[in-house]
Amino acid sequence: MEKKREIVMSGIRPTGFLHLGNYFGAVRNYVRMQDSYTCYFMVADLHALTTLSETRDLKGHVRRVMAENIACGLDPDKVAFYCQSHVPETAELYLFFNMLAYVGELEKTPTFKDKVRLHPQNVNAGLLTYPVLQAADILLHRATLVPVGKDQEQHLEIARNYANRFNHRYGGEVFPEAYAFNFGEALAKVPSLDGTGKMSKSENQMATIYLSDSDEMIVKKIKGAKTDSGAAEPGAAMSEAVAGLFQLLRLVASEDVVSKFEADYQAGTIRYGDMKKELAAGMVQFIAPIREKAEAIRNDDVYLRRIMEQGAAKARASAAVTIQLAKEAIGLKYY
Ligand code: TRP
Repeated sequence: MEKKREIVMSGIRPTGFLHLGNYFGAVRNYVRMQDSYTCYFMVADLHALTTLSETRDLKGHVRRVMAENIACGLDPDKVAFYCQSHVPETAELYLFFNMLAYVGELEKTPTFKDKVRLHPQNVNAGLLTYPVLQAADILLHRATLVPVGKDQEQHLEIARNYANRFNHRYGGEVFPEAYAFNFGEALAKVPSLDGTGKMSKSENQMATIYLSDSDEMIVKKIKGAKTDSGAAEPGAAMSEAVAGLFQLLRLVASEDVVSKFEADYQAGTIRYGDMKKELAAGMVQFIAPIREKAEAIRNDDVYLRRIMEQGAAKARASAAVTIQLAKEAIGLKYY
């Protein structure tokens, strides 16, 4: 008999507009997992409500994030790709886990404290129990592998606590422990174009390349990227900005091209204008097909609806089994 595949689950915030950092840090990782694991990828629209009072843009964001992930290679026929709000069993498990969630523990969660600082006028109970909902997302499929970055470590620890507490309190081995997981090598960090830190949505827009950027916009952003004012002395250590540019080049250019510019740098003869031209050409070649595919999907109501329904059906089938097991363990079965 074929060995049962391990279960992978992750949530994607519907912020819309994926950038290169999201692609190389997350999406590429999901795509690589889809052939070897049973995967559940979910758009966390309910989590979005914890900080969102204006929901007018939610629809656009959810559709965009789904379209962009699919355009990047996530295959809705291989994985369950669904919206959190389409799987009401999530809310049911969330309620069960709320009985295992200590308020003091939740109040100490760093992500909660950050959000209180950011939105002091909207400290709602949903915000406090954000990690409870996330634990429900993961454990709804009894997943053991969760492809997420370092910032989610605390939330995974909370999910493991609830899994263990549930098993202890109600008996049985309903829930496994889930751990952060990344496919192959460590996640690629994508540097921003202004030489400070990594690409991110909230920082400088001109220093972040989006998968929806036009060819002209990509070229413009790369032209404006920070470099040294001229070639450094032969053999000098690289500035953060130049090292970042090389890192970006490695993502989209051939080994030969990268080696040529590295040799130029070492020799003190590098011309950043030329390097930027190569980088821009590589980026355009990489992003244009993704952008065009995402655009087509975003405008295809029939396809999007079919994908969402298909994803929800797969997720609900898995969820129904888990909810049944949980109810039996708790003792919520009266006939
Ligand atoms: N909290 C995650 C984030 O901020 C998103 C998320 C929601 C998630 N539910 C999840 C991640 C379940 C992994 C598993 O990115």
